Amino acid sequence: MEEKKKIRKLILSKLKGKVNRDCIESELWELFFNSSMYVESETIAITVSKFPELSTINAIHSMIEDQKKVVVPKTCLSTNSLAFHQISSLNQLTPGVMGILEPNKNSDVVDLEEIETIVVPGVAFTKEGYRIGFGGGFYDRLLSNYQGNTCSLLFQEQLVESIPVEDHDIPVRELFIENKTR
Ligand SMILES: Nc1ncnc2c1ncn2[C@@H]1O[C@H](COP(=O)(O)OP(=O)(O)OP(=O)(O)O)[C@@H](O)[C@H]1O
Ligand SMILES: [Mg+2]
Repeated sequence: MEEKKKIRKLILSKLKGKVNRDCIESELWELFFNSSMYVESETIAITVSKFPELSTINAIHSMIEDQKKVVVPKTCLSTNSLAFHQISSLNQLTPGVMGILEPNKNSDVVDLEEIETIVVPGVAFTKEGYRIGFGGGFYDRLLSNYQGNTCSLLFQEQLVESIPVEDHDIPVRELFIENKTR
């Protein structure tokens, strides 16, 4: 859909020029780490970010130190799906599809049913939690089979008034937004 592409491009260009990122990211992760969603979850799924996305790598490290079961997706292009593998060290990550760091072969697959919280990546979000991702539909397909908690962390620039919602779009349950939280 053209409209989605336009919004994606605009937001990504805004994010590239974003200043004071480290400070804002720390504040957002602090909100997340203090949330009941995090505190009460043993198994958490999270993607390794790539600039200009909000960075997740330090947070992944903290979660491992916190003794959480951290699972990271591996993209399977033949089935167009994501498989989650547990990592207990950042050394278990290796560049995969699109250069995104993903778990290597020495990591165990974890069932979707076992995941209590998924930190969902995305480019643009409405305050209702509807999102525009990176265009693969990977998270839309995933969330259609998932019953647990979902959340996203976003810079102010990523919050938009409206996005074209399609039948397959499933909103993220909780948003942690720069300067504001739902
Ligand atoms: N539940 C689903 N079942 C089958 N196809 C789907 C589903 N969800 C999305 N798709 C397909 O995936 C493609 C991309 O979807 P969309 O534009 O919503 O991606 P996105 O939300 O930006 O990506 P992502 O979810 O990976 O972040 C579309 O062609 C869409 O029809
Ligand atoms: Mg979508």
